[in-house]
Amino acid sequence: MITRHPPISLKCPRFLHGGDYNPDQWVRTPEVWDEDMRLMKLAGCNTMSIGIFSWTALEPKEGVFNFGWLDTIMDKLAANGAFAVLATPSGAKPIWMSEKYPEVRRMSAKGERDTSGGRHNHCRTSPVYREKCAIINTQLAERYQKHPALLIWHVSNEYNGDACHCPHCIQAFQNWLRARYQDNLDNLNHAWWTGFWSHGYGDWREITAIDSCMHGMMLDWNRFNTDQTIDFYQAECAPLRRHTPQVPVTTNFMGFCNTLDYWKFAQVVDVIAWDSYPSYQDRPHDWIEKAISTSLCHSMNRSFLQKPFMLMESSPSVQNWAPVNKLKRPGLHLVETLQAVGHGSDTVQYFQWRKSRGGCEKFHGAVVDHCATEQARAFQEVAALGKILGCLDDVIGTTTRSEVAILHDWENGWAIDFTSGPRNEKKSYLQTCVDHYRPFWSAGVNVDVVREESDFSGYKLLIAPMMYMVRPGVAERIQSFVRHGGVFVTTYLSGVANESDLCFLNGFPGPLRELLGIWAEEIDAINDDESVPVVAVPGNQAGLAGSYQARIFCDRMHAEGAEVLATYGAEFYKGQPAVTVNALGQGQAYYIASRNDARFHADFFNHQIKALGLTRALGCTLPDGVTACTRTDGKREFVFVLGFNREACRIDLGGAKFKDVVTGEAVAGQLDLPLYTARVLERLPAKN
Ligand code: GLA
Ligand code: ZN
Repeated sequence: MITRHPPISLKCPRFLHGGDYNPDQWVRTPEVWDEDMRLMKLAGCNTMSIGIFSWTALEPKEGVFNFGWLDTIMDKLAANGAFAVLATPSGAKPIWMSEKYPEVRRMSAKGERDTSGGRHNHCRTSPVYREKCAIINTQLAERYQKHPALLIWHVSNEYNGDACHCPHCIQAFQNWLRARYQDNLDNLNHAWWTGFWSHGYGDWREITAIDSCMHGMMLDWNRFNTDQTIDFYQAECAPLRRHTPQVPVTTNFMGFCNTLDYWKFAQVVDVIAWDSYPSYQDRPHDWIEKAISTSLCHSMNRSFLQKPFMLMESSPSVQNWAPVNKLKRPGLHLVETLQAVGHGSDTVQYFQWRKSRGGCEKFHGAVVDHCATEQARAFQEVAALGKILGCLDDVIGTTTRSEVAILHDWENGWAIDFTSGPRNEKKSYLQTCVDHYRPFWSAGVNVDVVREESDFSGYKLLIAPMMYMVRPGVAERIQSFVRHGGVFVTTYLSGVANESDLCFLNGFPGPLRELLGIWAEEIDAINDDESVPVVAVPGNQAGLAGSYQARIFCDRMHAEGAEVLATYGAEFYKGQPAVTVNALGQGQAYYIASRNDARFHADFFNHQIKALGLTRALGCTLPDGVTACTRTDGKREFVFVLGFNREACRIDLGGAKFKDVVTGEAVAGQLDLPLYTARVLERLPAKN
C-alpha cells in the first residue's frame, strides 16, 4: 500500500497556492502584471492558473496567433520562482469561430442552436471544434514544453455533461449504442423495455429523440455524455501528452455534478482537481450541514484515485452567484482551506487571483480586489494561510486510512432521479449519503467514498444508502465482503433494478435478498408532514433505544432469517420489521427500511464505531460543529482539527500528545477552539 505519494509535480515539492489568473484582461496596463508578481510573493502564492478563457487573446482571428502576452507572463512567473497551471482554452469558444462554424454551438432537444457567447457550451462531437482545439493545444504544448514555469496542464474548464442534440452528437450516440448492444437492436429493445408505449426500434437511425419515459435510454444517454466528454478530453490531451509526457494533466471537476460520472472520468486524469464553493456564509442552521457535505465531497475526490487531489478553485472571500453573497467571516478561510487539505488536498487554489474590472464575475471574490492593496482583509487572510501552507511540506503526498466506506455511485443516483415513484420529490440520494456520513464526521472517523466496482475488502464497514441499482457481480462481491467479516449497511429502495433500470423479479432487494435475509414486499411513500415511529426492540444488538421517526419512505418488509432490531410503531404495518441484521460468515448485513431521523443515525453508527473499534482521529468526543481527520505516511500522523463550531469550545485530548505543526508548540490535555479555527497537529508517540 502506498503511504506517501510524490508531489503532484516534482518541479515544486511545496503546497501549491494560487489561483485563476487572467492577465490577458489587463494587456492595456502591463504595470498591473508587475504589481501582480509583487503581490503574489506577499500572499505566499507560488502557482497561477492561466489561459483558461484566453482563446481570443491567443488566436484573435482564425489561424492568427498571438502568444506575446503569455510569453511575458510565463517568463515573469519563472523569474519570480512561481509556476503556471497552464490551461487549454476550450471552455469558452471565440465568437469568430461560433459565427463562422455554427456546428460548434450546442443544439437543444428541440433542434435549436445556441447563440454565440456564454461558455462551457461547445458541442463535444463537432469535428470542427475538435480540430480547432487540437491546433491551439498543439501550439501551446510546442511553445511551452520546455518552459520552466510549466507545472501542470489544466484542460478546458469545468466540462459539464449538459446535452447537445445536434446531428453529430445523435449519430455518435447511435454508434455508441451499437457498440454497447453488440450491434443487436433486440438487445437494446429488451434493455430499454421498448414494448412499453410502443417505442420499439427497427433501425439504429430511428434513435433520434431522447425520451424521458424510457429510463434505460436515459441512463445510456447519461453514460454516453460522460463517455463523449471523456473522449473529448482525451482528444484535447493528445498533443499535450505527445509534447510534454512528463507534465501531469488534469481538468477541474465540480463536486457532485449530476451530469457526468466522475468515477469514470477520474480514471483518465493524472491528478484529481475539483472546485469547491460551499457558501459557508449561509444561515447558521445549515452551516454544519454544508461543512459535512463538503468533507464528504473532499473525501470522494481523494478516494477517486486514492491519492492527494488539487483544490483547484475556491473563493478567497465571497461568491457572486448565490442569491445572497455574504462575506466570509474572519477566520473561516483558514478552516475551509485546511478542511480541503485535511481530507487530502495538496493544493489551495482560488477563483480568482484578481477581480476582473467588467463582466458578470466582477464582484466574485478574489485575492486582489478592485482596490488592489495588500491591506485588504481577504488578501491578508490569504497571505496568513500562505505562511501556514509553507509549514506543511511534510504533509504533502500523505494518504488517509479509512475503515469505513460510503457508496456514492453516479449511475445509481441517475436511476433514482429518473425513476417515477414511489415518491417524486425528496428522493434525495445525495443528501441521504450525507446523512449516513454525518455521525462519522462528528466523531472524527475517516471515511472513503466508493462506487459499486470499488474494492471493498480493505474496509470494516460498507454503507450503501438507497442502493437502487445493483450492477452485475456487485451483490456477489458484497456477499464475499460480509463473509470475510465486513459489516454491510443498506436501506429502503435498494436492490430494485439492474444496470438498465429493469426491475428484479425475485423480490426486493433483488440480488441482495439472501445476504440481508429479508423480503421488502412494498414501499410506502408518506407525506412531508407525516412520520411513522420506529421502535427499538429492547435489548437489540445495534445500540438502538426508544423510538425514532421515519419520514418519506417506509418499506413494508419481512424477515427471512434476519433478526429484527426495530419495528414500526404505527400504520397498518405496525409491529413489522423496520431494521434488521443478518449474519453471514464472519460478518453482518443490516437493512434499514425507512428514512430515519438524525438521532437514529447517531445511535446506530456510534454503536458501530464502538463495536468495530473504528479509529477516531482524536480518540475522544468532539464538540458540535467540530471534526477531525488524519493523513499519514505510515509513520507520522497529522491530525486536522476543523472548527465549524459557532461558539468557542474545548476538546479534552485525554492522554494523547501532539505538536502543532505550524507553531511547533506542544499540545496536550485540552485544546481550545475559538470560532473558526483549524489546527494541524502531529501525533507524538505515546511514552512507555
Ligand atoms: C467556476 C468556474 C470559474 C468561476 C467560478 C465562480 O468554478 O470554473 O471560472 O466562474 O465558478 O465561482
Ligand atoms: Zn453536438
